[in-house]
Amino acid sequence: MNAAMTLPSTFPICRSVAALRQYVGEWHRQGLRVALVPTMGALHAGHLSLVARGLHLADRVVTSVFVNPIQFGPKEDFAAYPRREAEDAALLAKAGAHALYAPTVDVMYPEGFSTTVTVDGVSEGLCGAFRPGHFAGVATVVSKLLLQAGPDVALFGEKDYQQLQVIRRMVRDLDIPVHIEGVPTVREADGLALSSRNAYLSAEQRSVAPTLHQTLATAADHLAKGTAVDTEVAWGTSQLLAAGFASVDYLEVRDAVTLKPVSVVERPARILVAAYLGKTRLIDNQAVVPA
Ligand code: PAJ
Repeated sequence: MNAAMTLPSTFPICRSVAALRQYVGEWHRQGLRVALVPTMGALHAGHLSLVARGLHLADRVVTSVFVNPIQFGPKEDFAAYPRREAEDAALLAKAGAHALYAPTVDVMYPEGFSTTVTVDGVSEGLCGAFRPGHFAGVATVVSKLLLQAGPDVALFGEKDYQQLQVIRRMVRDLDIPVHIEGVPTVREADGLALSSRNAYLSAEQRSVAPTLHQTLATAADHLAKGTAVDTEVAWGTSQLLAAGFASVDYLEVRDAVTLKPVSVVERPARILVAAYLGKTRLIDNQAVVPA
């Protein structure tokens, strides 16, 4: 942590559900609106855009940082996932957030924890097909975070589009009294979506990575003009492999809300991709709006 990132002594870090509820409860008693921004930390400008939007929609913003073990597969990067709490807290304070909620694994999943929230339909296919149990892990922790904090609004990035739709469905199905706000993806100047996992890329892989966004943007443009989904998917996949991606988990076009497959775009749709650059799995997506 550098000198410019010193944490103000007044910035609260809550470690327990009780401490979090004390802050949120006091704000609600004062008639203030409260926003929650759930994250796994290693914060970048994408996360901070959720905080900025939260400050626009509410009077108080609390951000959670919790690397959620149950949403990582056995071969995924849970142990290696970057943990930088002091830097994160300083970035949040500077961005104008009002508190950090940073529970330990024991607080989130005490001995005997036995409940899983699964969301059928939208969790299936796309990342759900390649990461078994991932969205159940996300839905379980997000439902807990919403019940622990009791915010008026919670913000999630369109970067993780399937995750956003899973959470919207869950909140509707379980009557959780919160507004879910989706926030557009923040990108580097060359179009690469900001992600904590971009740090894993070598210089050469980093120079190839923007092809992901460029390919989606071109395909989305063609699809909006009525080209067949199959044609664009075949073209996009070959573009990515030719550019240097090692493999493509999926490149698909889905209905923007239900995430059901579509063959021609007649209603708002989404083109979504997951592909490997070396060992790093990158995801991205783009709106497809029929002309
Ligand atoms: P994490 O990957 O840390 O992301 C936290 C939030 O930041 C998510 O809503 C994600 O969509 C958003 N985000 C990430 N990169 C973004 C970008 N470039 N532009 C805009 N928003 C971006 O997603 C998770 O954590 C976890 O699954 C979580 C929801 C916290 C549950 O554990």
